[in-house]
Amino acid sequence: MSIGVFDSGVGGLTVHHRLVDRFPKADFVYLADQANAPYGGRSGEEIVELTKAGCVRLFDEGCDVVVLACNTAASVALRRLQQTWLPGYRREVGRSLNVLGIVVPTIEAATGLPWEHEAERRGDKVEKLDILGVFSTPATAKSRVYEIEIDKRRQDVAVFSEPCPELARMIEQNAPRAEIATVIQGHVKALATRIGRHPDRAILGCTHYEIVADLFQAALPPGTPLIRQPDATADALERYLARHPEFDPGTGGGRRFLTTGEPGAQNSLVETFWGGPLNFEPA
Ligand code: DGL
Repeated sequence: MSIGVFDSGVGGLTVHHRLVDRFPKADFVYLADQANAPYGGRSGEEIVELTKAGCVRLFDEGCDVVVLACNTAASVALRRLQQTWLPGYRREVGRSLNVLGIVVPTIEAATGLPWEHEAERRGDKVEKLDILGVFSTPATAKSRVYEIEIDKRRQDVAVFSEPCPELARMIEQNAPRAEIATVIQGHVKALATRIGRHPDRAILGCTHYEIVADLFQAALPPGTPLIRQPDATADALERYLARHPEFDPGTGGGRRFLTTGEPGAQNSLVETFWGGPLNFEPA
């Protein structure tokens, strides 16, 4: 079998890159739903339907495990698909299939706690010592997944989200880096104004932002730790595959890149990040 990696566009390549490093012999198929990107301003129903279609496409390619390398899809659609669609679909096709996300590994990395751990809720007021900023798409911010799930586990961490409506599209469309830097500086400033100071740590809660992580780092106060989703996801997938030997990630080192959009080469921002040319086939 292969491992499927899904995103609305090129952002998931940041996660994919790390997965390929971690599992060099595994066979991977990456699917970018560029015909429908960006997802971040879409309704919940649209995101659920598009994510489901992406998973089906990757299952049809022979993937048994699909990693949603997209915060928007993972935070809006994943639980719903796992609860209401995947069990019936597995029975229909008669295969063991699973869909994993990137929000759970990120929350584990941000809290330093395993997902199963939910803090005992006490009545007393806990002082919020650690301020965590989350930069994300509007749909991820609206889901409040980071606020809700981190608060369940670490009541000493206060989460503030900053929706960045234009950023994934700018990265997808190869906007000049100077323009992307200005937009990022604006969001960093807006978040600091809302909190009253800069966050102590930050999550780049949209996989597209990892491509310009250096611009976030430059806009935040020097040394602000960034919680890295690609590392957190690779760690989580390694643990998952160790617990589930029935999922064999393959041994051929296959790498295929599919897009629902324009096939061919990807933009120079992406190629620079990837470290070479990338050729996408039509999905
Ligand atoms: N890269 C995606 C994410 O992590 C999606 C961005 C978008 O399509 O708006 O949220």
